Amino acid sequence: MTDIAQAGTFPLGDRTVTRLGYGAMQLAGPGVFGPPKDRDAAIAVLRAAVAAGVDHIDTSDFYGPHVTNQIIREALHPYPDGLVIVTKVGAKRGADASWNPAFSAAELTQAVHDNLRNLGVDALDVVNLRLMFDVHGPAEGPIEAPLTVLADLQRQGLIRRIGLSNATPRQVAEGRRITEIVCVQNQYNLAHRDDDAFIDELAAAGTAYVPFFPLGGFSPLQSDSLSAVAAGLGATPMQVALAWLLRRSPNILLIPGTSSLGHLRENLAAAELRLPDDAMAALDRIGVV
Ligand SMILES: NC(=O)c1ccc[n+]([C@@H]2O[C@H](COP(=O)([O-])OP(=O)(O)OC[C@H]3O[C@@H](n4cnc5c(N)ncnc54)[C@H](OP(=O)(O)O)[C@@H]3O)[C@@H](O)[C@H]2O)c1
Repeated sequence: MTDIAQAGTFPLGDRTVTRLGYGAMQLAGPGVFGPPKDRDAAIAVLRAAVAAGVDHIDTSDFYGPHVTNQIIREALHPYPDGLVIVTKVGAKRGADASWNPAFSAAELTQAVHDNLRNLGVDALDVVNLRLMFDVHGPAEGPIEAPLTVLADLQRQGLIRRIGLSNATPRQVAEGRRITEIVCVQNQYNLAHRDDDAFIDELAAAGTAYVPFFPLGGFSPLQSDSLSAVAAGLGATPMQVALAWLLRRSPNILLIPGTSSLGHLRENLAAAELRLPDDAMAALDRIGVV
């Protein structure tokens, strides 16, 4: 069995988590909408992740909506000590599965209560405010109003820690004037490296960076260089993509998503993969366009 402790640890707010975690988005139905084809399989994936030592799960009540959190609760409640569940608010789903901004005080408060109820907890470990100035990537815009709503809910004891998602460095600076920002969750992987400088800045500040789409998202990464490095190391391309992120910066926490037990095991085994310098150099060139 993989020793995922080999991935090391990093602080996430006042907790310290193993750098190899799990992203639960893939557990909802197709298009992250409705129930999964196989609910028992989804439960088995979550239980296997925690049994293997995963202590950081990423989710949102807008996955499904509600479905993913309800599956997490059914699989894992009462939650083991040390498990950190990170959720996000700022969007709501349309009846047509669309993703729509939801930043009013009433919508954010409702979202926090939906997460509390569906996860079955009295307080949320970490809540990311998922910014939607541009749904596809970070874009400038003021965050004071919605973040103040979350900070108030934090003061009421419903939220322990706050992070930002799809955020720019300027928004993190603005956020820090309102409350502590413990993590940033943006899109980043071997082939999508807009945040290179931002990651280094956050590392220097001791702030966790949690890349979403670490494997490329809905279309997993494909690259001849990646395949060649993987073949040379006797590993899979997805394991190499994760090992590259682990080596890229110590503040990177991984949340690869999968609905498959086989892929889960494969991804967790990346904790034991050490990339030699020449492999790092070849992989670094993939993101340079
Ligand atoms: N903040 C945000 O805006 C945001 C946006 C997107 C996602 N997220 C979070 O980030 C997490 C990770 O992102 P993600 O799940 O969308 O994308 P990902 O981790 O980059 O990739 C998931 C995709 O790769 C496949 N996959 C996983 N392991 C594999 C393997 N070993 N070999 C081949 N294919 C594999 C999955 O399919 P199978 O199910 O078949 O394995 C799925 O299609 C999510 O679960 C979610 O919690 C956040």
